[in-house]
Amino acid sequence: MTWQATILTLFPEMFPGPLGLSLAGKALREGRWAIEAMDIRGFATDRHRTVDDTPFGGGAGMVMRPDVLDAACEAATAANPGAPLVYLTPRGRLLDQALVRELSAGPGVVVLCGRYEGVDQRVIEARNMVEVSAGDFVLSGGEPAALLLLDACIRLLPGVMGGAASAAEESHGTDGLLEYPHYTRPAEWQGHRVPDVLLSGHHAEVARWRRAEAEAATRARRPDLWDQFTRRMAEQPNTAKAGRLDGHPAAA
Ligand code: ADE
Repeated sequence: MTWQATILTLFPEMFPGPLGLSLAGKALREGRWAIEAMDIRGFATDRHRTVDDTPFGGGAGMVMRPDVLDAACEAATAANPGAPLVYLTPRGRLLDQALVRELSAGPGVVVLCGRYEGVDQRVIEARNMVEVSAGDFVLSGGEPAALLLLDACIRLLPGVMGGAASAAEESHGTDGLLEYPHYTRPAEWQGHRVPDVLLSGHHAEVARWRRAEAEAATRARRPDLWDQFTRRMAEQPNTAKAGRLDGHPAAA
């Protein structure tokens, strides 16, 4: 079945954009996913095709009108039945791999890209939108966030990634650790040698070294992920034992 992305945007020409190239582009041509970008302006009812208005209560900027957005949502939902409606906004829950996995496993997604100061709260609630943020920074609109959300979902679709193992193993993969560092030829470059263990041909040693590096990087760079990881390991003692490489019990 084709995973369907329906985008509500004021800039439909931004899609598929970079998703028409590389891995996602190939999968698009193969019919593993499909995209329809709908122009929100097409749902305006006045002759100026107005989609926004000034905020009640005053203040800077413009707010996207609920009536126009509701009509756009109706059309998008009809075109993509059963797909959740995601509104991209810095007010949303942070996008993470768990949400990506969930969306990727479903029939597809309807994505509302906001512009101006935001979207009238009533249509967010009436349409049961899932508010999602790409990160703790502010973009000029939801479109770049939509591209990254779709990219993350598409690469998990069946048949898209050649080596399924690489999808499973990498950072924020199923074990929630950052990835270990990578090296390739030449074995010595500008006086820096590749770690000896990687040249040893000893697969178990390599796996142990990589696991230890992944744990060390996560601990140093992402204390939040490390905390979640150690908690999970403590809750699953068998996995924790298997997961530890130094023979010590999992950290509490
Ligand atoms: N729109 C503007 N900033 C955003 C962000 N950080 N995530 C999602 N959508 C946005």
